[in-house]
This record gives sequence, C-alpha cells and structure tokens, in this order.
Amino acid sequence: GLAGRKVNILVVGLDNSGKTTIIERLKPRPKQNAEVAPTVGFSVDELQKGALTFTVFDMSGAGRYRTLWEQYYREADAVIFVVDSADKLRMVVSRDEMELLLKHPNMRAVPVLFFANKHDLPVAMPPVEIAQALGLNDIKDRPWQIMPSNGLTGEGVDKGMDWLAERLE
Ligand code: GTP
Ligand code: MG
Repeated sequence: GLAGRKVNILVVGLDNSGKTTIIERLKPRPKQNAEVAPTVGFSVDELQKGALTFTVFDMSGAGRYRTLWEQYYREADAVIFVVDSADKLRMVVSRDEMELLLKHPNMRAVPVLFFANKHDLPVAMPPVEIAQALGLNDIKDRPWQIMPSNGLTGEGVDKGMDWLAERLE
C-alpha cells in the first residue's frame, strides 16, 4: 500500500454496544480515555495504523441519531459494525440496522468488520450464533468478518483491525 494513505472508517452499531470504547483501544496508550460516555451525534478521530491513516467516524447508536449514519456512507472506505454480544433482545434491531446500511444506495461494496463485542460477559452469544442471527452468511457482495472482542481490555481489537487493514492496502 501507499505510505500515509488516508482511509475513512465508519463505526456504527446500536447504542451501548461499545463503539467508542473499542476506538479508544486503537489510540496510543497515553491518549486513551479510561471513561467513555454515550456519544452525542458523532465524533471524528484520526489514527495511525501501519502505513494507513484512519479517519474514524464514531457514530452515536442512539435511535434519534441513527439517521446521521447514512450521511457518511458515500465517503466510507470500510465499515465497523459493533454488536453487543450480550444484548440478545436487540439482536433483531442490529440486524435491521445492518440490512438498511448494506442496501443503502450510497453504500459501496466496502469491507465490513463485525465486532462481537462484550465477549467477556457470561451471557455473551458466541460469534457463530451472532453471525446466524444477523444473517451474515447472506452477504455475498463484499468482504466481511466477525471478530469477538472485549473493548475494555482490547482483546480481539487489533486482530480485527489487521483484517480490515489488509483489505484496504
Ligand atoms: P453510543 O455512543 O451511545 O452509541 O454507545 P457506544 O457503542 O459508543 O458504547 P460505549 O463505548 O460508550 O460503551 C457502552 C458501555 O459498555 C460502557 O459502559 C463500556 O464500558 C461498556 N463496554 C464496552 N465494551 C465492553 C466490553 O467488551 N465488555 C464489557 N463488559 N463492557 C464493555
Ligand atoms: Mg459512543
């Protein structure tokens, strides 16, 4: 890949799934915030990942802000879709939002990384079950991957980002 190439990463998923927490783990340790609060609207961060410069759009997952997501579809070079593995009740809401995103006319055939986040919780669904609940095997028009993660410790986060970076180089 070209050194210093800039890519836009759109981070979406329901409120409380752990998007902002995961993004903190991507920052150099001294810059990481220990506490995160629910995102209002969205926030933008620029992060270095190997030869790539990621411009990360951290969207709020709250219902009243979800309509903002589509404003950034056209510019997205990749999507990170975060799912709370323990939120069984809202898995169908996650699926609905994901389907709307994938079929949106402004969304190109960019890679999608799914974080099965909060993998540490005892009631967390295994990634294969989440993949089934979301119907991920029906996605044929773009590269996708599901990765279990723990936003608090960072477990699984780098592995997921490595997969994404390989698809962007
Ligand atoms: P919105 O900005 O409202 O859309 O939420 P978000 O998806 O950015 O979630 P956020 O990162 O604010 O995290 C929500 C809560 O989940 C926080 O209390 C985090 O500490 C917690 N959390 C995030 N990741 C994990 C995880 O992997 N395991 C556990 N147990 N808690 C997590
Ligand atoms: Mg947030």
